[in-house]
Amino acid sequence: MTITTGPLLPDEVDKWFGAASVPFADDFTPERIERSKRRHRLDRATAAKDGDEIVGTFGSFSFLTTVPGGELSTSGVTAVTVLPTHRRRGILRRLMTEHLEVCHARGEPLATLWASEPAIYGRFGFGLAVGHYDLKLSVQPEMFREPRTSGYEFRLISTVVALELLPPMFENARIQTPGMFARTPEWWGFLLEDPADQREGWSSHRRVVASVGGEDVGYAIFRARWNDQGRQTVRVSEVFGIDDATERELWRFLTEMDLVEEIINWNEPIDRPFDWWLTNPRLAARTAGDALYLRLVDVQTALRSRQYASVGHVALGVADPICPWNERTFRLSVTVDGPTCETVDADPDVRVDVAALGSAYLGDASFVTLATVGRATGDPEALSQLARMFAWDVAPHCQERF
Ligand SMILES: CC(C)(COP(=O)(O)OP(=O)(O)OC[C@H]1O[C@@H](n2cnc3c(N)ncnc32)[C@H](O)[C@@H]1OP(=O)(O)O)[C@@H](O)C(=O)NCCC(=O)NCCS
Repeated sequence: MTITTGPLLPDEVDKWFGAASVPFADDFTPERIERSKRRHRLDRATAAKDGDEIVGTFGSFSFLTTVPGGELSTSGVTAVTVLPTHRRRGILRRLMTEHLEVCHARGEPLATLWASEPAIYGRFGFGLAVGHYDLKLSVQPEMFREPRTSGYEFRLISTVVALELLPPMFENARIQTPGMFARTPEWWGFLLEDPADQREGWSSHRRVVASVGGEDVGYAIFRARWNDQGRQTVRVSEVFGIDDATERELWRFLTEMDLVEEIINWNEPIDRPFDWWLTNPRLAARTAGDALYLRLVDVQTALRSRQYASVGHVALGVADPICPWNERTFRLSVTVDGPTCETVDADPDVRVDVAALGSAYLGDASFVTLATVGRATGDPEALSQLARMFAWDVAPHCQERF
């Protein structure tokens, strides 16, 4: 068996989707393949072949990801599969290693992914950087602590209107929230297309816009279906508003719809303040889960390109056997004028592996925690300093799985 790897060729696209459908247990219909072709960046896709047969697939989107105080181009890794006939022979390792080299060459300092199996990606330098809550909100009358804020009006809008009104409101949330990526018009089109064969028994998308004094200030996208008790479950996919009061009033609107017994959302931001909004926080049952994994492809550029919560000067020694250009000691200096990051020939104050650094990068994992579990070692004062520097006041979130 000789395995070759390389860019996906135009006449192999259907075979590529066919190969990906086997490990993902998903029979792609011709309609789905057509839709996927419009969403995927097939010009960035690669394939592993055994002779003429595609046995491994690897895709990536080109994203602009929000980082604390900035944004960075990112490879959003997707469609990673190897056929069961060819598993555990190093094909994924080869596709991933080649991909990271390509990202580095084309100047993408970050790579991100959602993992079907969390155990796979640490060895490739990806660290868990964003969590989420699987939310189940039991609806009761008068469940919010704060009285209703007056002045909000709500209206349901069509797909055509949604395509015009929602993107700027989403973008306002996106630029403030580490981990979220910008949506292109094509992405919005795909997101709001809502094909009937993908609804799995749920209603079509409803979109409600909140406005105050004629100005649109927030929106929610949701679906609904009847449950066994003759009531409805609402499934939210996103709620964004310009401030806390708007998001709270949107949630209140959802809970006050007739016949609704519960509201679910598998991907709630971890800092949505239900504990403070609700008189009884237990009504918002939340199960924590792992969301986005992040890899620093170019550590120096990544460290230079975010802002920090505190000034400080630390020499950081990074271990990264897969991307040897990152195996350096970086002096990260943050002053009131901003950050600088230079490679130095000196002993590091702190040593960290690149996956653990990825977990800290968006502000999620603290260096103190990383030290406690042995993923960062060194001078305790420097570790505390890094914990203060990397903290961020908006919890990271990634709005959608890709
Ligand atoms: C996951 C998958 C792509 C792995 O491909 P593969 O070619 O068998 O992987 P490799 O042989 O290159 O293995 C690389 C390393 O990852 C490890 N690994 C691979 N799959 C793993 C899994 N599911 N869980 C834990 N470790 C895994 C291997 O043990 C190997 O470790 P090592 O090199 O450190 O010894 C393939 O099994 C698959 O398609 N699975 C179903 C779809 C899927 O889960 N895709 C991932 C989407 S996020």
